[in-house]
Amino acid sequence: MTKTESGKRTIYSAPGKIYLCGEHAVVYNEPAIACAIDLRATAKVRSLCEKRYVIKSSMGVSKRLKSKKHIYAAKCIEKLKKYIPKGVEIEIESEIPVGSGLGSSAATVIATLAALNDHFKIGYSLEEIAKIGHKIEKEVQRGLASPTDTFASTTGGVVFVPEMKTIELPEIYVAIGNTGKFSSTKKMVSSVKNLKNEYAEIVNRILESAGNISREVEKLIKREDYQKIGKLMNINQGLLDSLGVGTEELSKLIWVSRKSGAWGAKITGAGGGGCMIAITEKRGLMKIAKAIEKAGGESITTKTTNDGVKKQSKIL
Ligand code: MEV
Repeated sequence: MTKTESGKRTIYSAPGKIYLCGEHAVVYNEPAIACAIDLRATAKVRSLCEKRYVIKSSMGVSKRLKSKKHIYAAKCIEKLKKYIPKGVEIEIESEIPVGSGLGSSAATVIATLAALNDHFKIGYSLEEIAKIGHKIEKEVQRGLASPTDTFASTTGGVVFVPEMKTIELPEIYVAIGNTGKFSSTKKMVSSVKNLKNEYAEIVNRILESAGNISREVEKLIKREDYQKIGKLMNINQGLLDSLGVGTEELSKLIWVSRKSGAWGAKITGAGGGGCMIAITEKRGLMKIAKAIEKAGGESITTKTTNDGVKKQSKIL
């Protein structure tokens, strides 16, 4: 340990998320359902004896809060600065691909806020952490972030939007296919808005149908009928395609997943790139992952989790 560090480290992790159904429709007040997944971001915090702010990750080191490289962690420090006696060092690690619709920024923000909150004995509740996290996402993304990601990251489990009601769930196995194409949520949300302005009657029916899918999936989740949920995810995918947020790459990964036995497969998040998800039974997961890789996607196998933000004894 150098003279500028103090000994104790506080480590928290928080999960990413997928949308089972209802993305885009949720922007127009229709219901959506998100699930936390077992891919996590971790934040390790330690005090510095000098007034310095250091953020480290696989992307490098930032020593200024204005640095764009670690904008989310820097915003967390900024928001809680008045509780930090001198300086702080934050180390971020993440299993969640960035800019792919899996809530990587929300998981980083929630893990960082929770670690700072505990380390400096600030005393915020989880609810307050989720709210501050959402505010940070909105500031960085200029007003566009829905509270879904930060909420799912905080609570874990299945989140019903807009009520923000969470329930615990047995594990659902999920194969994720990443197209590797960066997707801009802002751009996709505004392209749906333009389509809605042009064909209001038609697009409103599509968005309402997506909302009805979420209402139906809510009942099926309570009955744990995943095969039927898969069927509705496939219908939801048709609606997302008709809204123009699909891509050839996403469709390819979706179709090979279905052909490899997925109960259902669809885009997760804004579309236009990013990731698709397929749900299946545990023993079918690797077959789908291999098919995704063969079709040119990057596959990640995971499962849903009821573990929201939590303290860790070591970095993941
Ligand atoms: C993006 O992950 C999901 C959208 O519904 C936008 C949002 O809810 O903020 C497209």
